[in-house]
Amino acid sequence: MDFALSTEHLMVQQMVREFAQREVAPIIRECDRTQQMASFVLERMAALGILGICFPLKYGGQGMDYISLGLACEELEAVDTTLRVVMSVHVGLNSLGIFQWGSEEQKERFLIPQVKGEKIACFGLSEPGAGSDVANLSCTARKDGDSYVLNGEKMWISLATKAHHALVVARTNPEAQDPHDGLSAFLVELNSPGVSRGDIHGKLGVRAGSTGWIAFQDVRVPEANRLGEEGEGFKIAMSCLDNGRYTVAAGATGLIRACLEASVKYATERKAFGREIGKFQLIQQKIAYMVQSYEAARLLYLRAGWMKNKGLRNTKETSLAKWFATDASFQAASEAVQIHGAYGYSDEYPVERYLRNAKGAVIYEGTSEIHQLMQAGYALGYRQDGQLRCELPPYDPDVWLAETTSESKNQKDKVKST
Ligand code: CAA
Repeated sequence: MDFALSTEHLMVQQMVREFAQREVAPIIRECDRTQQMASFVLERMAALGILGICFPLKYGGQGMDYISLGLACEELEAVDTTLRVVMSVHVGLNSLGIFQWGSEEQKERFLIPQVKGEKIACFGLSEPGAGSDVANLSCTARKDGDSYVLNGEKMWISLATKAHHALVVARTNPEAQDPHDGLSAFLVELNSPGVSRGDIHGKLGVRAGSTGWIAFQDVRVPEANRLGEEGEGFKIAMSCLDNGRYTVAAGATGLIRACLEASVKYATERKAFGREIGKFQLIQQKIAYMVQSYEAARLLYLRAGWMKNKGLRNTKETSLAKWFATDASFQAASEAVQIHGAYGYSDEYPVERYLRNAKGAVIYEGTSEIHQLMQAGYALGYRQDGQLRCELPPYDPDVWLAETTSESKNQKDKVKST
């Protein structure tokens, strides 16, 4: 068992940390206040290769592994959740889904521009009336000649108004005996006629990010844009969530670290009753719990990343990592506010933002309650994972780093030169 990060991992960690701390940290409070994503964020993440970090060079990626993806998410969310959300939807829920289930032709048309960050992608699963209960979503896709006609509405969609592409799950067979089998997945170009979308304001957290809705009215989607086979939509959606939840787990770990760092700093500066407050045991206990949860959350997500690298099914381990890290990040943020006292209750310090942001992650990509049911299901033997028709490809440096064009080599050099 090797707990050490490789030189490449450390390089990714350093590059993403520098980007987030130097370029985003100084402006994030204002973005949160104005509920606007900083205009340069997506462009810079693309230019630095972060949006294509874990994809093979031949698809325009950086040739790094899945652990690198997790490390990048940890660094991004240590500054703000909204940065990691970009990775969750663009990389985890969409691009990795195409990488796993898409045809070479779909990879050419959708994956490559996404990996290069020329096109931004989102994930259309949740609806106004369906979040946890995926199998009963109501968006429909009716076959008509060599295309499908998409109708319905998707809700709580991160990057809804920023994205060019969406991976949308819709019902193709309303007659299916088991509703799970009636769903299919589609790659939808969001400039298609019949697509409308908007932002949702007034959220508790992730205010510097973009969350919205997308409505489809008789939107024609070519059959060639169906991801996987008809009826595979539920499994595709769940496998995308296995990747999205991994990025959420890694990001929440970064949020715990941010709470810990802010709390240690404040506890060694603030004085009460003649001493710095870090000398008081009740403050020390809160800090100790943050250390404990950071280390445990980190090990859980790194194990899930290692399993992805090896090509091992990790639905159970990723669910555990997501559940633990997000619950722990909410707890850490709440205690960080408590340590900061009245100052923690204002945005003079970042911890109130951490608390508001942390609450979202215990809801999206599977509520903590869904993950508890999953874990109990595995333990009791009610739940088992079968072989999928398309598994996420295991990381193989020979494949990931095989260069097909000089352009892909230039992509790889981006990480090295930043
Ligand atoms: N990968 C591939 N296949 C999977 C899978 C996975 N991770 N999990 C389950 N499946 C397969 C099963 O093997 C089963 O296949 P068979 O029929 O061949 O046996 C089939 O799918 C049905 O599985 P289940 O019986 O487990 O389905 P279920 O209805 O009991 O659902 C659930 C289980 C855990 C409740 C699941 O529906 C779930 O995770 N719900 C939460 C959904 C969620 O996370 N929503 C968040 C939306 S996205 C978002 O939040 C993003 C945003 O931007 C805000």
